[in-house]
Amino acid sequence: MAQTPTKEREQMPRETDEERLDERKLGPRTLGMMGLLIAAACALILVSVLKPGFFQNIAASGSGANQVVTPLPPPAIPSGPGVPSALNMGMPGAQTSITSLQEPLTAAHISQFTLVAQNAVLTIGPGLRVPAWTFNGTAPGPTLRVRQGDLVIVHVVNHLSFGITIHWHGIDVPNSQDGVAGLTQNAIRPGQTFTYRFVADEPGTYWYHSHQFSQAETDGGLFGTLIVEPRTPTIFANVDDTIALHEWNGADNQTFFTMNTTTQTLNEAAKPGQWVRLRLVETSSTADTTPHLLTLVGAPFKVISLDGHDLNAPQWLNETPIPIGAAQRYDLLFQMPAHGSVALIAADENDDQHYLRAPAAVFGQGEVPATLPIVKPWFDLTTYGEPAPTSITLRSHFDVTSTLVLNNQMGSSMGRMGMTYTIDGKVFPNIPMIMVKEGQLVEITFDNQSDLFHPMHLHGHSFFVLARNGKPLTGSPVRLDTLLVPPHTTYTIGFLANNPGLWMLHCHNLLHANWGMDMMLMYYGYSTPYRVGTASGNFPD
Ligand code: C2O
Ligand code: CU
Repeated sequence: MAQTPTKEREQMPRETDEERLDERKLGPRTLGMMGLLIAAACALILVSVLKPGFFQNIAASGSGANQVVTPLPPPAIPSGPGVPSALNMGMPGAQTSITSLQEPLTAAHISQFTLVAQNAVLTIGPGLRVPAWTFNGTAPGPTLRVRQGDLVIVHVVNHLSFGITIHWHGIDVPNSQDGVAGLTQNAIRPGQTFTYRFVADEPGTYWYHSHQFSQAETDGGLFGTLIVEPRTPTIFANVDDTIALHEWNGADNQTFFTMNTTTQTLNEAAKPGQWVRLRLVETSSTADTTPHLLTLVGAPFKVISLDGHDLNAPQWLNETPIPIGAAQRYDLLFQMPAHGSVALIAADENDDQHYLRAPAAVFGQGEVPATLPIVKPWFDLTTYGEPAPTSITLRSHFDVTSTLVLNNQMGSSMGRMGMTYTIDGKVFPNIPMIMVKEGQLVEITFDNQSDLFHPMHLHGHSFFVLARNGKPLTGSPVRLDTLLVPPHTTYTIGFLANNPGLWMLHCHNLLHANWGMDMMLMYYGYSTPYRVGTASGNFPD
C-alpha cells in the first residue's frame, strides 16, 4: 500500500531540524555541499509527496519479483476547438439557484464518514500490481453502511494532484449534493475538503464514484459501495455480502477483470443452511460494451432486487446468467446447501459463451467446480417475478414524452476526433435538454439504433421500466436508475419529476459518456452558479 501523503509531510520538518543542528559545526564549503544535498533530499521528498508511488516503483524494480508500477497519469484537461471554456448547463437567470436545494442540517440519526482520496498500488493477483486512486487506500473504498432515514454526512479530503467529486449513484439526493463537477459543484481541488449531506430515504444497494472526469477517475479506483439498511427488514439473510466488479487497466493496455479487486478466488464465509444475500455492483465501464455475465453454481438463487429496489415474487433460477450493465446492482438471495459450496462465476467477456474459473467467489468450504455449466439464455427483467400495481404504467398520462436515439459515428467531441456516441445524432454539450416542471410525469423512450449496449443512467430519480420494443413488462414492476439498453432495442421508462434541479442523463459506459453520450434533465426555474470547461477545470465525464 502506498504511504499516505500525510505521513510523508510529517517527516519533513524533523529532517530539516537535524540539518540545522549540524550547520553550526561545519565550514562554508562543506555547507555549500550540504546545501546541494539538502536540496536534492528536499526534491526527493517533494517527489514522494506529489507522486507517492515513486518509492514503491524503485523498490519494485529493485526486487525483480514485482513489475514496475508507474503511477496513473492525472486526467488530461481537454483543449482545442469545441472545448468549452465556461459553459453554464442550467437556465441562466432563472430565479432559484440549485445551491439552495439542501437537506436539513440535522436529523434523529446521523451517519458520518471521512473519505480521503489518495494514491495506492493495489495487488490484484499474484505478482500483479496496478496503480490506483483510492478512497482511504483501498478500492472499492470503505463500504458505507447506513440505516434508512439516516442523515449521511461524508467529509471528503483530496490528497490527489487533481480535482475530484463524489456522486451518490442511485440515491435521490438534493441536487446540490449530486457531486457532478460543473453542474452541482466545483471539483474538489488538491488539498481541499468538501462535505456532502443527504438523507438515505430508500433501502438498497448503491455506490459512489467520482463525477469529475468520471471515466478516468472511476476506472482508476475512485469508487465504493453504499448500503442502506431498511428500517423494517423484509428479507432475512444470515450473511450479507457485497462484491464490486471492476476492470483495471494494467501496463500495455491489458485489462484485468476483478471481484473485490482480485483476479483470483474470493473466499466468503457461509455455513450450511445459511441464507446469503449477495449484492453485486458493476463499477467498471465495461469498455467492450457487452455486460459482464455472472451466475451462481451450487444452489438455486433469486434476484431479489435491482438497483436497490425489491422485485415482486421473484422465482428461483438455476445457473441463469445475469447480465449486469455498468453501474447496475443485482441483489441475489440463496441458501447454502447442506454440503459443499456455492460459487459466483463470470463468463469470458470475449465471447460470452463459456464461464471462467477466475475471478470467482466461493461461499463456504470448497473450490470453483472443475466442470462449469454452459452459458444459458440470459436473465430477462421484463418477464421475471409477478405483476403488482404501480403508480406509473404505460397507460399513465404523461406530461412530457421524449424519444432519444442512441447511436455512434465518427466525429468530434471535446476537441478530439474519433468514435463519438450520440443522442439524436449529437454529442455533449450540444444535446438539447429535457425540460420538466416539478410534479410532471415524464416518459422517455431509448431507441438504440447502434450495435452496442448502452447502460443509460438518470441522476436524482428512479424510474419504472414500462416496455421493451413496445411490449409492456409481464413480470414484477422494475424500478431502476440505470437501464441496460441492448443493441437495436427500444425501452420506455416513466418517472415522476419530484426532485428539482439540474440532472445528468447519460450512458454509464463511461467511455461513451466521455465521447458524447451525456445530456441534461432540467427543471424550469433553476440556475447553477457552476460552469463546465477550461476556465474552472470542471469536466463531469
Ligand atoms: Cu454513476 Cu452520472 O453516474
Ligand atoms: Cu453507451
